[in-house]
Amino acid sequence: MDTDPKASVFDAVVAIDSGVDHLLQYSAVRPEDVRGLVHGAMYTRGPGDLKHTALFIGGSNVSDGEAIAAIARETLFDPFRISIMLDSNGANSTAAAAVLSATKHVALEGTQSLVLAATGAVGQRVCRILANGKSHVTVASRSLERSRECIDRLVASGIPSDRFTPLASTDAASLSKALAASQLVFGCGAAGARLLSAEQLAAAKELRVAIDLNAVPPMGIEGIDLMDKGVQRGERFDYGALGVGGLKMKIHKACIAALFESNHRFLDCQEMLAIGQEILNSAK
Ligand SMILES: NC(=O)c1ccc[n+]([C@@H]2O[C@H](COP(=O)([O-])OP(=O)(O)OC[C@H]3O[C@@H](n4cnc5c(N)ncnc54)[C@H](OP(=O)(O)O)[C@@H]3O)[C@@H](O)[C@H]2O)c1
Repeated sequence: MDTDPKASVFDAVVAIDSGVDHLLQYSAVRPEDVRGLVHGAMYTRGPGDLKHTALFIGGSNVSDGEAIAAIARETLFDPFRISIMLDSNGANSTAAAAVLSATKHVALEGTQSLVLAATGAVGQRVCRILANGKSHVTVASRSLERSRECIDRLVASGIPSDRFTPLASTDAASLSKALAASQLVFGCGAAGARLLSAEQLAAAKELRVAIDLNAVPPMGIEGIDLMDKGVQRGERFDYGALGVGGLKMKIHKACIAALFESNHRFLDCQEMLAIGQEILNSAK
């Protein structure tokens, strides 16, 4: 189920590459459509066979995806369950891959993180995973109001409010101060949006990891290359969008495969993070 007017080609191709035999795609799915669609999936097979059906929720807006996921979960009941994965705009798989890349270099607990353009699908999930890992997260947006709204949504998901600080990235002095105090910075801006200059990056002496998820030039964080994958520059390790993208694809595919192992899983960002961690552990 995709909340966009046209269901994602990318998600369809990845589903097939992950071993899905038959793909039924529904576009422009609204909350009022969900019960009927889920009934069609849950009542057509006996409980023992329901693990062969799964629901993927996509689309560009993660809040819309969350609303669809909530109704789908309410509609299911024992023993008529199907597994569900929520990955609107690849937000969960991308955020999990980005934060796991960072944790190769720094343990999250007790760190200061700065998430730039945190209000988008990916940024919100990066903030959530960081804060759940007990990093203190500065949630940056060009608008202080949108930053605060983003924090409200994160707190509503159950994370203590004292793990977040709002920031208007248009306030240069506040941005410099947040950067100077941070060990981790994540650029989660829209394609082609410049968020940080090379000078700003170079001045941030505490930084140990810098990750830019924008794949479209100019880079969101100037000085990070698209292909960077743990490239060390001084005390800092850098990742570009394609440097994170390989792990993101592994997580995405492993999560799709996991949907068909049982009929009762719900894969949101923390579950997908755990699957990503397993992938890293098995590669050691
Ligand atoms: N590497 C991968 O595997 C992978 C996978 C998926 C996505 N991505 C990339 O990850 C990034 C984030 O994805 P998303 O879907 O969350 O992005 P998005 O929703 O399109 O944009 C994220 C945020 O960028 C800010 N923004 C928009 N236009 C801007 C501009 N002109 N200048 C500065 N900031 C601007 C907005 O925040 P404010 O208005 O609050 O400032 C917006 O909420 C994108 O670049 C996407 O292509 C990478």
